[in-house]
Amino acid sequence: MRIAMIGAGYVGLVSGGCFSEFGIEVACIDQDAAKIERLNRGEVPIYEPGLDELIERNVAEGRLTFSTDLKAAVGLADAVFIAVGTPSRRGDGYADLSYVHATAREIAQAMNGYTVVVTKSTVPVGTGAEIARIIRETRPDADFDVVSNPEFLREGAAINDFMRPDRVVIGTESERARKLLQRIYRPLYLMETPIVHATVETAELTKYASNAFLAAKITFINEIADLCEKVGADVHDVARGMGLDGRIGRKFLHAGPGYGGSCFPKDTLALAQTARQADAPLRIVESVIEINDTRKKRMAKRVISRCGGSVAGKTIAVLGLTFKPNTDDMREAPSLEIVPALQAAGAKIQAYDPQGVEEAKKLLTGVDYCESAYDAMSGADALVIVTEWNAFRALDLARIKAEMKTPVMIDLRNIYNPEEMAAAGFDYTSVGRPQRQGGTDHAK
Ligand code: NAD
Ligand code: UGA
Repeated sequence: MRIAMIGAGYVGLVSGGCFSEFGIEVACIDQDAAKIERLNRGEVPIYEPGLDELIERNVAEGRLTFSTDLKAAVGLADAVFIAVGTPSRRGDGYADLSYVHATAREIAQAMNGYTVVVTKSTVPVGTGAEIARIIRETRPDADFDVVSNPEFLREGAAINDFMRPDRVVIGTESERARKLLQRIYRPLYLMETPIVHATVETAELTKYASNAFLAAKITFINEIADLCEKVGADVHDVARGMGLDGRIGRKFLHAGPGYGGSCFPKDTLALAQTARQADAPLRIVESVIEINDTRKKRMAKRVISRCGGSVAGKTIAVLGLTFKPNTDDMREAPSLEIVPALQAAGAKIQAYDPQGVEEAKKLLTGVDYCESAYDAMSGADALVIVTEWNAFRALDLARIKAEMKTPVMIDLRNIYNPEEMAAAGFDYTSVGRPQRQGGTDHAK
């Protein structure tokens, strides 16, 4: 069995690496020659726990290769996976499908014998049919099927998510293509992973519905957190009390600065646009988008309020820049709203992130990037925890106080305990939990 994986980004590298771990021969293809060169030198261009070892092992065993030569890889492949980006289109927020369409054209030109073209990229409903149309138009003689096989992995936990998924969704009406996908996913069938067989359209929509639901769940608890702050309740306990109900579930009920990342923001926008076009608007999703955007912007005001109403001339330490821990991905990270807003209000920013600094430097200028969490706190008037890296969970409180000018901490991820922080003499604020010191937040 041979697979060509087009697009060697977060999804392409993880999926390609994991398929090769299943024993399949995988050629990962990317048009970015520098990326391929790095991969061929043994460097993994993204930070994803466990990916280096997985790639190294499978390259050494000869099952995983990297190249820019799409034609050669597709010509040899039984299945070609499309894992290129589908960012938001400027203007209307719909998915920009130009990379997917270009890839479909290139695949069509290179196909050799019956080939299954599988979309792993997140694509709006109708894209599978469009890919089939493009292939037929480019190569009227092509023998192929198009399958939608959306990916549900999370960055930072991607390998485990891929190897032990809650489910695999396979969208096709072709029995021949379905059998091939069953062979590819054989190790997961053997583990009795639930497999959802559906039409292409249903599979495409299942992916967006899942992401939009998770984004809505986070947004719901974020709004409950706001209410908790007004009425003196604790969102952590509310979430636990809710989440223990099996119908609700405990996951994705952590209040914070608003969701970010390469997917929830763009996928909610694209789904809302699809729904408007289909004359079936999704008002919940539209509200989620609006609430989350406002929330991310409001976080800087919260910090300013905790600093006595002004940060002009003050030094703010920022811990965590990536959109979540265990990744170097900065796409739509809350820090991209918070840091510039604080700078615009006159603050000097000292920031630290365990893996995100290289990416952050491209997006956030005028920041003093530090070598450690404690360096970032040195002489700071306030400390803001933006991303909950494990390394920030057990900082030495006495040392933080010694490093900072004033012990003001704004914990946007609720990783510290309010009572303990108050007892340690901090002016500590978190999200949706009662204030122990310093009054209420007026930055609403
Ligand atoms: P990415 O930007 O990290 O990688 C995409 C890669 O595709 C880039 O390296 C780019 O150079 C390459 N590419 C673009 N056009 C190409 C072409 N014509 N030929 C060869 N290579 C080409 O993107 P990503 O985060 O891996 O996301 C890919 C898709 O998977 C998106 O649709 C995304 O929504 C979806 N997805 C992402 C995640 C995630 O956690 N990142 C999870 C599930 C689904
Ligand atoms: C998300 C989904 O979880 C994956 O299933 C999906 O495959 C992926 O999008 C995708 O389509 O690309 P990811 O964006 O990597 O994965 O990360 P998440 O763990 O979902 O976090 C997304 C954002 O939500 C982060 O900013 C995170 O901090 C925030 N979040 C998450 C919360 O604020 N609270 C929570 O309880 C959970």
